[in-house]
Amino acid sequence: DLPRIDLNSGTSIPQLGLGVWQADDDETERAVTHALDEAGYTHIDTAAAYGNEEAVGRAIAAASVDRDDIFVTTKLWNADQRGRDAVLAACDTSLSKLGLDQVDLYLVHWPLLDSDRMKRTWEAMQEIAESGKAKAIGVCNFEPHHLQVIIGHGEIVPAVDQVECHPNLPQNDLRAFAHDGGIAVESWSPLGGTPNSGWGKASKDNTLLKDATLGDIAEKHGKSIAQVIIRWHLQGGLVVIPKSVTPERISQNIDVFDFSLDDTDMLDIARLSNNRRVGAHPDEMNVGAPADDE
Ligand code: A2P
Repeated sequence: DLPRIDLNSGTSIPQLGLGVWQADDDETERAVTHALDEAGYTHIDTAAAYGNEEAVGRAIAAASVDRDDIFVTTKLWNADQRGRDAVLAACDTSLSKLGLDQVDLYLVHWPLLDSDRMKRTWEAMQEIAESGKAKAIGVCNFEPHHLQVIIGHGEIVPAVDQVECHPNLPQNDLRAFAHDGGIAVESWSPLGGTPNSGWGKASKDNTLLKDATLGDIAEKHGKSIAQVIIRWHLQGGLVVIPKSVTPERISQNIDVFDFSLDDTDMLDIARLSNNRRVGAHPDEMNVGAPADDE
């Protein structure tokens, strides 16, 4: 079984999952099917904004793995942060597309510039948790200052914060803050990102998968660079959701439990920290933010 991380909701999350951002319906259905039926994944991470929840749902319905043994995450899109009713309706729409009664984790996809709006959204997210439609709720791309807006606003502290995180952007301050608050951190673009993608301004090539230091470490262990990076996340206590639509890579990315990085490897990788983001900065991302509530 995959290692799991306990969440403050009382549930736990498999530490490795499959991400499906920027995969179209056919790619998604094939990738999720391969992940669940062939590769041994038990955790799928999608979002309303990815446009592929129906494909994820079809693959889950057809998989030989029981629904209860799969951890499913989806996310509330910015444009649906239009007040309580719109948030609840967006969750229902996602559940219906996924063909599920509940998700294991429902995340606010991005913080917005408007703090009051974020608070209203978080109130509605808590209703969703209380109704059982999400076993746990959390956020994505929240910097500590965003977390401070919603922590204490109601009873429920976000179970996770899913942020861009990889050896170039190890997020040490945010991870320390989250750790103190009992919030698990999940890494998106864990391998350094998909080339030519990205909301907002940033859209850069993946340089990590070609990095010489990582290449040396990979060679030393007889593993690929992707596998070394995934180990770095796992050993750092992060939840990691590498995206791939390629069956061999999906299998390769979970074949990481037969080796470990030593202290020297971890120190060498720590030196790759250079604050290089491949995605949008949370403070600049307000795409689709609504002007008014419903
Ligand atoms: P693809 O989906 O075509 O297989 P991230 O998770 O950091 O966003 O990285 C995703 C990118 O890395 C995608 O372009 C994906 O390509 C590629 N990728 C995923 N796994 C591997 C791997 N094991 N080796 C090389 N590239 C990979």
